[in-house]
Amino acid sequence: MTQDELKQAVAAAAIKEVTQAIEDGEIIGIGTGSTANCFIDLLAEFKHDIKGTVASSEASAERLKKHGIEVFDLNAVNDVAVYVDGADETNHRLELIKGGGAALTREKIVAAVAKQFVCIADESKLVDQLGGFPLPVEVLPMARSHVGRELVKLGGDPVYREGVVTDNGNIILDVYNFPIATPRKIEEKINNIVGVVTNGIFACRPADVLLLGTQNGVNRITPN
Ligand code: 5RP
Repeated sequence: MTQDELKQAVAAAAIKEVTQAIEDGEIIGIGTGSTANCFIDLLAEFKHDIKGTVASSEASAERLKKHGIEVFDLNAVNDVAVYVDGADETNHRLELIKGGGAALTREKIVAAVAKQFVCIADESKLVDQLGGFPLPVEVLPMARSHVGRELVKLGGDPVYREGVVTDNGNIILDVYNFPIATPRKIEEKINNIVGVVTNGIFACRPADVLLLGTQNGVNRITPN
C-alpha cells in the first residue's frame, strides 16, 4: 500500500471508531493535514449522525463546510466528545510532535477540550524517540529573535519557517537537531519561554488511541 492508501485506511478506521463511540448530538473535533482531510471527506457521509464539528484550522473548517458539515466555534460548545487528528511523529506512549501544517496551537486547544483524542497516522510516523521531525514552535512575531536564542540555549537549531503566518497571526520556528528524551518536561520548558504561544510536543495531553496504518492493516494502539 502507498502512504496515501495507508492514510485512507486509518481515516476509515477512525470513522468506525468515532461513529461507534459517539451519541446523538455530540460534537467531533477535527484536526488538520492530509490524513485529517481523508477523515473529513469520509465524515461527509455521516454528517446527519452528528451535531457538528469544531475545527483546528481555517483550512479544515473550509473543507468541512464544503461538505455541508456544520462547524461550531469552540466557545459555543460545552463538550467535544472526540478529537481526530494526524501527527508528524508519535512514540509508543502516544506522545506526539505536531505542527507540520502550522496548526499546532488550535490543535492543542481542541485536544485539551476533547474527552478522547484519536490519532491517525501511517506507520512512518511511529518512532522510539521524538525529535527526528523538526519541532514546530508558534511564536509571537516580535519575540522571534528572543525565542530563537532561548531555543539555541536548550540545544536546538531553530529555523524561521519562511512565508508562513499561522491562523492566529504568528510565525513558526522549526527546531532541528533536537532529540526529545523527556517530552513532557521539554514541552513545559519551551512553553515557558516568553513569546512562545505553544510548541508542537503533545505530551501533557497525549493521544488516547493511535490508529496506525501498516502494510498488515490498521493497528489500534493504546499507550504502554
Ligand atoms: C498540522 C499537523 C498535522 O497533523 C501533521 O502535520 C500531520 O499531517 P499529515 O496528516 O499531512 O501527515 O500537526 O499542524
